[in-house]
Amino acid sequence: MSAARVLVVGGGGREHALAWALGRSPLVGEVLVAPGNAGTVPAVRMPDPDDVDAFADAARDRAVDLVVIGPEAPLVAGLADACRARGLLVYGPDAAAARLEASKVDAKAFMLRHGVPTAAARRCDDVSSALAALTELGAPIVVKRSGLAGGKGVTVAESTRAAEAAVHEAFAAGEDAVLLEERLVGQEVSLLLVCDGRDAVPLRLAQDYKQAEDGDLGPMTGGMGTVAPVDLLDAAAQADVMRSIVRPTLDGLRAEGTPFVGTLFIGLMLTERGPLVLEYNVRFGDPETQALLPLLESDLFELLRDAARGTLGTRALRWRAGACACVVMAAPGYPGSPRTGTPLDVPGDLGADVLVFHAGTRLEGGRLVSAGGRVLNVVGLGNDMAQAVARAYGAVERIGFDDAHYRRDIGSRLAQP
Ligand code: AMP
Ligand code: GLY
Repeated sequence: MSAARVLVVGGGGREHALAWALGRSPLVGEVLVAPGNAGTVPAVRMPDPDDVDAFADAARDRAVDLVVIGPEAPLVAGLADACRARGLLVYGPDAAAARLEASKVDAKAFMLRHGVPTAAARRCDDVSSALAALTELGAPIVVKRSGLAGGKGVTVAESTRAAEAAVHEAFAAGEDAVLLEERLVGQEVSLLLVCDGRDAVPLRLAQDYKQAEDGDLGPMTGGMGTVAPVDLLDAAAQADVMRSIVRPTLDGLRAEGTPFVGTLFIGLMLTERGPLVLEYNVRFGDPETQALLPLLESDLFELLRDAARGTLGTRALRWRAGACACVVMAAPGYPGSPRTGTPLDVPGDLGADVLVFHAGTRLEGGRLVSAGGRVLNVVGLGNDMAQAVARAYGAVERIGFDDAHYRRDIGSRLAQP
């Protein structure tokens, strides 16, 4: 392959970080991002990625050497299948494998079939059976919508009344089924693995701050910040997770005729019973990716290309020493009704240890303005976590963004395990 042309699909902070890391590879000549954002300019004009056939045709016409699909929606809609059908090399699972994220009901049944350790759960297909089950099970309890909900479909209910409200809301929103799940207690970690259908190479562990407000209060969001690496699992415990969770997952997918090529993202809760799976995602985490890729010294293009080709094998990745923290600056009103169109001022001299990955941004008459819920990902690198966090917040304070909403406690959980 001469200098490769890579197409990154998506328009969030994750995709900006992917494009940045891919662009650092000496093997890459050009990175296209569709639809992209103001940080990934020049974005390319392509059909909507959810219109999978039109998008795959356009990708083929642009003769790209590798397609890297960021978000879950086009994966679930079959974009990877459509691109593969046109002979393109694709990093991202087929729709059949993406069901692990598309349906929490299917994912839970899959875990039970393959002996993957997870929380006990009951599936309910209508309001009345869910309410009856709640009376029996009581609170605390977790109510999960089965379908895709942008990371916002889970209610950890402290009272039966709150659980009932979540059940009513889920079915009113057109959900086919909910899971009522045992509430787990422990630290949560994000384990991302690059997979080639057979083998998996783990990235460092990351930790997400999902609720909107400091102290893990307020509504769930897509993620308000992340830190990496987190050392909550020692080498023996990580090997155990590979053996008891990752292996049965990959083997189960292969045995069911849906081998997994792409990023398998396993949300783990570290409980007294050991690590249990909270959820599977079938793509890079957002904002986990923004805190992981700046630490990666190995060539990301080579890694994803080899995974897409099915030639990953076992390999150890090289990582930079130190730590990385990502603080999300969101629009006021996020995650409810974010206000957009706010002018943004991102100074050019934030320092060598700071990166800013755009998410919901666009250029309006040459001016940078907010255009979504999560707007900027401000990333600090440091020799240790305290320094990484301080650098990220130092940069946040220098960015002009009126009424920006961000958490002030990213990284604080590690200080009090
Ligand atoms: P999910 O989309 O399944 O990852 O759920 C979103 C968030 O809800 C998780 O990251 C956890 O913080 C929380 N959560 C999900 N399932 C449980 C559970 N069984 N017990 C406690 N918290 C949970
Ligand atoms: N940050 C969690 C996710 O990407 O789903």
